[in-house]
Amino acid sequence: MSAVGEAIRERFPVFRDKVYVNSCSQGALSDAVRAAYGEYLAGWDAHGAEWEHWVERSEAARAAFANLLGVRPDDVAIQTSVSAAVSALVSALRFDGIRNRIVISEHEFPTIGQIAHAQELRGAEVVHVASEPEAYAAAVDERTGLVCATFVSYRTGAVHDVEAIYGIARKHGALMLVDGYQGVGALPLRVAEAGDVVVGGTVKYLLASAGLAFLACRPGLVTELLPTQTGWFADENVFDMQIERYRPHASARRFDAGTPPVPNIYAGLAGVDLIAEVGVPQIQAHVRALVAQLCTGLDELGASVAAPPGGPLVCIRSTDAPALVAAFARDGIVASERDSNLRVSLHLYNTEDDVDAVLAAAARQRELLA
Ligand SMILES: Cc1ncc(COP(=O)(O)O)c(C=O)c1O
Repeated sequence: MSAVGEAIRERFPVFRDKVYVNSCSQGALSDAVRAAYGEYLAGWDAHGAEWEHWVERSEAARAAFANLLGVRPDDVAIQTSVSAAVSALVSALRFDGIRNRIVISEHEFPTIGQIAHAQELRGAEVVHVASEPEAYAAAVDERTGLVCATFVSYRTGAVHDVEAIYGIARKHGALMLVDGYQGVGALPLRVAEAGDVVVGGTVKYLLASAGLAFLACRPGLVTELLPTQTGWFADENVFDMQIERYRPHASARRFDAGTPPVPNIYAGLAGVDLIAEVGVPQIQAHVRALVAQLCTGLDELGASVAAPPGGPLVCIRSTDAPALVAAFARDGIVASERDSNLRVSLHLYNTEDDVDAVLAAAARQRELLA
């Protein structure tokens, strides 16, 4: 039997009472992630400071992220949020030469735009473009230091052609950053094809909780970069306890920072393991069928979507998205909204019945559909 849909649903207690279609905001809690938190607390109780084991768990998380993204563990940094990871990355870039430009799309998550504009204080110039490769092609040139693209738009659900954008960045010798947060876990994403650096975290399709993120680099990249946002876990040897000099680790660990977020690592590992056990291709196929069912039903209702969805997120246009979310909540359906759109996101645990419930609720709220 397939390990998706009904076969896995009982491991996520939220489905006892709710139709949960909000993985774009927070993945549902599984028995495995709950148990992982229990394991962390039990170990702390039983052994006191389990530092060696905790650091080993952190390395296991690094390896799990690497496996997911098709790189080696040495090419992955552990961070506490995408914001912290991207800030560490840009701290390694210089904007005082000819490559002062950061090109970002209109679909970046706010944190990317805000971090980019913060670099204006260091001499950067931020260029905003549409999210299609052609728009990047018109803006990226030899003055570009960093190209930022988002894999799946948190606002529309559109899947962007990061491979084509990476080709443009490479052609002009610019570094390419991909924000994979809204896709990793539900869609395949491999660093080699997507960009020089891919960031994401565990809160959404990786089924864990806040406080754990990754920065995955293409092999060979890190030795070219010297982050000034750093910490002792980024040192060549954390156990040296030296204060004489800045001595970044030879691997992507140079983008780590301080004490690893141990409880979040326990949870994150459990979430990523669950995804790896089922397999991203199988999740992608399951989600694709549900999204097709949803889009057909929406079409029949005369509803429109913000973008043709190529991934797990469907954004339904609404005349009053907060009211639509509230109406869905009254029907026991957990969804979210952004930009006048109702966001319905589907994952391995959703079923055709969930989609039918969403369509029935949308039909009842027809006057709120745009
Ligand atoms: C696409 C995307 N990028 C970044 C973030 C924010 O990440 P963090 O809070 O870990 O900095 C989110 C959170 O919703 C997101 O959807």
